[in-house]
Amino acid sequence: MTRVLEVKDLEGGYGSVQILHGIDMHVDEGEFVTVIGPNGCGKSTLIKTIFGIATYYSGDIEYRDRDVSGWRTDQLVNHGIAYVPQVNNVFPSLSVEENLQMGGNTLDTRTLNERIERALEMFPDLRNRVHDLAASLSGGERQMLAISRALISNPTFLLLDEPTAALSPLYQQQIIDRIDSLREQGITVLIVEQNARLSLSRSDRGYIMASGKIVHTGDASHILTDPEIGEYFLGGTSH
Ligand SMILES: Nc1ncnc2c1ncn2[C@@H]1O[C@H](COP(=O)(O)OP(=O)(O)OP(=O)(O)O)[C@@H](O)[C@H]1O
Ligand SMILES: [Mg+2]
Repeated sequence: MTRVLEVKDLEGGYGSVQILHGIDMHVDEGEFVTVIGPNGCGKSTLIKTIFGIATYYSGDIEYRDRDVSGWRTDQLVNHGIAYVPQVNNVFPSLSVEENLQMGGNTLDTRTLNERIERALEMFPDLRNRVHDLAASLSGGERQMLAISRALISNPTFLLLDEPTAALSPLYQQQIIDRIDSLREQGITVLIVEQNARLSLSRSDRGYIMASGKIVHTGDASHILTDPEIGEYFLGGTSH
């Protein structure tokens, strides 16, 4: 199996504020992996450090057998990684179409239009809204736009930060379904989530993070059914 991402003993944070204290994790080709953990434990920081946004201190970040630690975001994007941030992930004062165009500003017009068309096939709800301002979209539609924009760079590895947070159950389900179908199209998926049951239910494996460290890992199905984990990390047992 091809390893897409291998993180070893990763330390990182923001300037001199260390948040990650030796993270070990990996994601294999075609996998759907979810990292869960409580508020403030460093989930976003992990994904941001991998994507070259937070400060990398030490440790290994290998992407498809290349050492990419310290790489710039645009280099990572050119090598097939895309990232959907937790907040402020669309430009509200631009239209849906303009947001999508921003996702591929180095592409020629024809390729850009093809990619936009493909993203709209994935998220048909956005098709009727292409000329509307992103500010007018519902939370679920915004998330669809943010994911669509990430797809414009044609990624093979997608990093998503809490894609279902603050959405209605119906939108949560829709978003996770779409992410799952991206995986079926060959995109490897890494999600960090605080409300993790739904994401874990589609995942192959999961990691549990607390205070900047990985404290547990295993098959997603085991994590979902472990009563102790349910109690502490998944908001009680499932119904
Ligand atoms: N830009 C920043 N500068 C300094 N500290 C930060 C910065 N952003 C986040 N932090 C701190 O880093 C720690 C981890 O934050 P992070 O956003 O990674 O947590 P999280 O697990 O994603 O939480 P949540 O579930 O609320 O999204 C927190 O203590 C937070 O206050
Ligand atoms: Mg976060």
